[in-house]
Amino acid sequence: MRGKLLVGIAGLAALLAAAALVPAAANAAGCPWVTSKAPIAARVKQLLAQMSQSDKLDLLSGLTSGPVAEMGPVYAGQTTPIPSLCVPALNLEDGPAGSGDSMTGVTQLPAPVALAATWDPKLAAQYGAVVGAEQRGKGANVDLGPTVNIVRDPRWGRAFETYGEDPLLQGAIGDGYIDGVQGQGVMAQVKHLAAYAEETARDSPASNSIVSERALQEIYLPPFQDAIQQAHVASAMCSYNEVNGVPACQDGYLLAQVLDSEFGFTGFVTSDWFATKSAAPSADAGLDMQMPDGCYYTTGLQEGLQDGAVSQATLNGMVSRILTEMFRFHVFSHPVTGAPGDVVTTPAHAATAVKVAEDSTVLLKNAGSLLPLKPATTHSIAVIGADAGSGAYTGGGGSASVVAPSVVTPYQGIVARAHGASVVYNDGSDPSSAASAAKSASVAIVFVDLQESEGEDLPSIDLPAQENTLIEDVAAANPHTIVVLNTGSAVTMPWLSSVAGVLEAWYPGQGDGTAIAAVLFGDVDPGGKLPVTFPVSLSQEPAGSPTDWPGVGEQKFNEGIFVGYRYFDENKETPLFPFGFGLSYTSFRFSKAHLSRPTKKGRVTVSVLVRNVGRRAGSDVVQLYVGDPAAAGEPPRQLEAFKRVTVRARHKTRVTFTLTPRQLSFWNGVWTAAKGTYQVYVGDSSRSLPIHLHFALRRRLTTGRRVGPAPATGSDSPALDAECLEDTGAPLVAAGLTVVGSAEGVINSLP
Ligand code: BGC
Repeated sequence: MRGKLLVGIAGLAALLAAAALVPAAANAAGCPWVTSKAPIAARVKQLLAQMSQSDKLDLLSGLTSGPVAEMGPVYAGQTTPIPSLCVPALNLEDGPAGSGDSMTGVTQLPAPVALAATWDPKLAAQYGAVVGAEQRGKGANVDLGPTVNIVRDPRWGRAFETYGEDPLLQGAIGDGYIDGVQGQGVMAQVKHLAAYAEETARDSPASNSIVSERALQEIYLPPFQDAIQQAHVASAMCSYNEVNGVPACQDGYLLAQVLDSEFGFTGFVTSDWFATKSAAPSADAGLDMQMPDGCYYTTGLQEGLQDGAVSQATLNGMVSRILTEMFRFHVFSHPVTGAPGDVVTTPAHAATAVKVAEDSTVLLKNAGSLLPLKPATTHSIAVIGADAGSGAYTGGGGSASVVAPSVVTPYQGIVARAHGASVVYNDGSDPSSAASAAKSASVAIVFVDLQESEGEDLPSIDLPAQENTLIEDVAAANPHTIVVLNTGSAVTMPWLSSVAGVLEAWYPGQGDGTAIAAVLFGDVDPGGKLPVTFPVSLSQEPAGSPTDWPGVGEQKFNEGIFVGYRYFDENKETPLFPFGFGLSYTSFRFSKAHLSRPTKKGRVTVSVLVRNVGRRAGSDVVQLYVGDPAAAGEPPRQLEAFKRVTVRARHKTRVTFTLTPRQLSFWNGVWTAAKGTYQVYVGDSSRSLPIHLHFALRRRLTTGRRVGPAPATGSDSPALDAECLEDTGAPLVAAGLTVVGSAEGVINSLP
């Protein structure tokens, strides 16, 4: 049935793609803006003047209100083309982990959390370039990514889809991704604005984030600011939740005030799927496009225009923002030509998937340097667990899932790399048979996973009980047991002291087995670092009470700015593994640090020498944390700069960072760098900071301000118009499509 539906959709897609192209070519003479070289603003004005009101409303709405309503859109969302004016459709396609929404013939990259674990914005740009090229190849001109929501709690079902718990890391990796996507001529859509952090009460008034302005400005909004100011992202998506009682997609504080006035955003805002809650109030707040339907933005806006609730100027402003990005991305002059049925994966894209998986693998424990595996002592390997075979969970579920053309399972990858060592596979369903397989092997490697998916949160961060038992039993049978974790965020490890080694592989995409074998055998150094704190147990997490998580009628972000490691440091909690942590097969030393005195403008330069003192090349991530003067009321340390370095054995490199006043600032209605002494720490995890320096600012500095009133603080929801479709938790199902999880991708011959 699903196959039939997909064929039908692909066929329809081809027709629509063709329909969207023909008018542009045929009517070019009557559409001077198609070939015009005039400034974009002039072209927008020229085209806008020719558009009827219904043309304008078409551009602001999704196509499910039109003729394909029953079928659902071909892409995740589409606007209606306007043939008479040579305006092609906008084809919006998920998403942050590659071309999604059941598309086939694409590359399944590792999950975004893996990309974050590389701490490598350049690699993020390479990843984004693969996504952009494949989206374009499929005929999409808007990519629904990146997801830059902060992981507030590891139980969030979409934690795998984001870049972790720190705003700086989120922003840097997000910028790399956006540069890569947009470099391919495809608009990126940064999502979901804002403070969207759980699935439990998703898209209901009970999903109401009660969060202070300070936490919004310091923690939840900076990745969006980076996307706008550094990467010039074309569009943004507002989220399902309410923020302090106001639906995010009609929140004038978030959209008009913060995005536009504070961050200078000139692109367009799209609603998350079925997250539009009104017509006129949303338009006034700054929502430009409803997706995937037009329930509010066709008739609702029309009525608003008639009765004066919406002004012509507002309507023209919304249309102009969309047209501006369409011209900027050459949608008229160089429309996309690909179609959903095209095969867009390439060997180079597949190689990028493997490279990201390798560089993201985090080595958490390596007792007795068991890893990398040594040929002299590794005669036989027992590969254990469903996740090492046909059950390999290579990508998370929901709109960020991508169908793998084929997956190299860990078992296959290890067999291909083992060079003569015997490799046996045991699926782990019977722990005692797994233990006896382990007993007779030189090394046992157990693969376990914790599967996340959009639409539901995890009940806990414990592995399924049978997986913990499996690890215990195997470890009891063989002291040389290595655990490979395949999770989207933190997980507990009750068996940690019994095993020799632990690797975190995240959801590593189609190159799973190839990448993990390269790491296990030491062909590459596992240079990944944790983008989230791993607690000993959930009781250490800030959202400890049910009113904070999952919330009763609303979610109280009581921890404020103390999210992730900020909370652990403030409360002197010792995590299982700290944010930023990851071992290497070699060792690094930090020395000869130098700090320049602050310039008049408050800029400070810090440099440090990094030496690889081991016997092989390896990677480390140099992390700089700042502790503000106590009066600022900030966490003890915050990540303010980082750089991933690869250094040859016995070689060194000097890494230099520049801190700006904004990085030293906290939010109190203006960005303020307090007068006083600042502590600077440099090292390679939030809890391993061998370099400690300090400097003083002799006077307070301010660098920016709020440009309107503070956000609403109440938690009362405004009355909502309930006529339109609501999200059902599985967006594409609501729109008529079936999401195919990556775990259902085709797996090459199984072990
Ligand atoms: C998700 C978005 C996604 C959209 C379209 C929504 O349910 O929250 O991230 O882009 O569906 O698939």
